[in-house]
Amino acid sequence: MGNGGEIGIIGLAVMGQNLALNFARHGFRVCVYNRTAERTEAFLRDRVREEPITPAYTLEEFVRCLEHPRRILLMVQAGSAVDQVIEALLPLLEPGDLVMDGGNSHYTDTERRMQRLAAHGIQFLGVGISGGEKGALLGPSIMPGGSPEAYGMVEGMLTRIAARSEEGPCCAYMGRGGAGHYVKMVHNAIEYAFMQGIAEAYDFMKTALGMSIEAIAETFERWNEGTLNAFLTELAARVLRYRDPESGDPLVERILDRAEQKGTGRWAAQSALELGVPTPTLTAAVFARTISHFKADRERIGATFPWPDRHTGPFSGEILSDLEAALNVVVLAAFSQGLWLLSEASRAYNYGTDRAEVLRVWRAGCIIRARWLGFLREVVREDPEDPHLLFSARFRAELQRRLPAAGRILQWAFEAGIPMPALSTAVDYVLAMRRSRLPANLIQAQRDAFGAHTYERIDRPGVFHTEWMD
Ligand code: 6PG
Repeated sequence: MGNGGEIGIIGLAVMGQNLALNFARHGFRVCVYNRTAERTEAFLRDRVREEPITPAYTLEEFVRCLEHPRRILLMVQAGSAVDQVIEALLPLLEPGDLVMDGGNSHYTDTERRMQRLAAHGIQFLGVGISGGEKGALLGPSIMPGGSPEAYGMVEGMLTRIAARSEEGPCCAYMGRGGAGHYVKMVHNAIEYAFMQGIAEAYDFMKTALGMSIEAIAETFERWNEGTLNAFLTELAARVLRYRDPESGDPLVERILDRAEQKGTGRWAAQSALELGVPTPTLTAAVFARTISHFKADRERIGATFPWPDRHTGPFSGEILSDLEAALNVVVLAAFSQGLWLLSEASRAYNYGTDRAEVLRVWRAGCIIRARWLGFLREVVREDPEDPHLLFSARFRAELQRRLPAAGRILQWAFEAGIPMPALSTAVDYVLAMRRSRLPANLIQAQRDAFGAHTYERIDRPGVFHTEWMD
């Protein structure tokens, strides 16, 4: 091994900086490059101390700084910036080099880039990285996809800098092609649903039960001790407890109720629609963010559409444990839908994704890390080929015993005028998936009646058409 950099990082926004420090603190020699030299200088001045990090101020210098075969991690904004960097790098690279994209890129872009680089003998990995800024520095959850050979070139390094759970490092090969970014996209869709479920529980406590923000934070803290133990549950409590330094009020109450999104949740919904996999809870969480955007419209409609907006009860003493059960239903439904989507995508795109490994990688470091993951992994391992968690008796039992409580919460929510799209879709999803006969027969009959679209029968094989209007 020479003295050159063992890994190069392009893009020194906070994620790139933190990953560079993380690699370097694990003893890897790192070369860094950023499009603007000022940011590189500021990084070296403000954050780099003893770490073996070498700056480069041109791409040529950067490429020269790295030992062969080169390993380069792109940490630039997903989209056209990734293509621009790849095109600029391409003439400077040699066959056998490896480029990784650590951003939230669309899996189809990843496949396209993989083919483009393969034509030049250069390897490419799409690497999902979760855990935010802190995770990048202290140990993220890492989801690499591409060729097994390419993964072999960086497995040792990535597993060293990853978060660790009791089941080992939170980095594993996610499969061929765009599998890494696909898995990260599904992670984010589950993240959206989990966050939406938490937001609905907060709304319910505030609006229906009239609880103070402190009491709501305390409730999330208590839930974090039980089955809902999760990074996002804990974070909700911490965020609710934070007070605006100016007013002294909980800051969350002063934040505009319009949720942004960068696209991964929407892509997951689009992919689910394309593949024909039902992900109503994941998709509802995307639409909930979209609806939140129409603030002015909501105000206008609400002004002339009276509804209680508060419930006076009487609530049973069990109302909070009902709500806790309801949030568990959302979380379980979200994972069940996400894992079904993953299994279908793996089949359709030939990823070869091992979902038990996905769940292991999600156990620490990532945003959706949660106590449920250990259980979910056991369920998947019972029958790894089975796309449905709902086929598992243990999984069904967990849902079944919480479903009545979830239903009670939905009734109260309706009376108080509280939308709970994540919860209602989760309950509907379970109810529909357990129903051997749905009313789709009537839909088929109508399709045939107005468009001669034909139908099948339950009492004999074949395809039928009827002249319904005669
Ligand atoms: C993570 C996060 C991270 C980021 C997403 C959220 O796993 O670390 O998912 O990737 O927070 O960009 O996406 P939205 O901006 O769409 O909420």
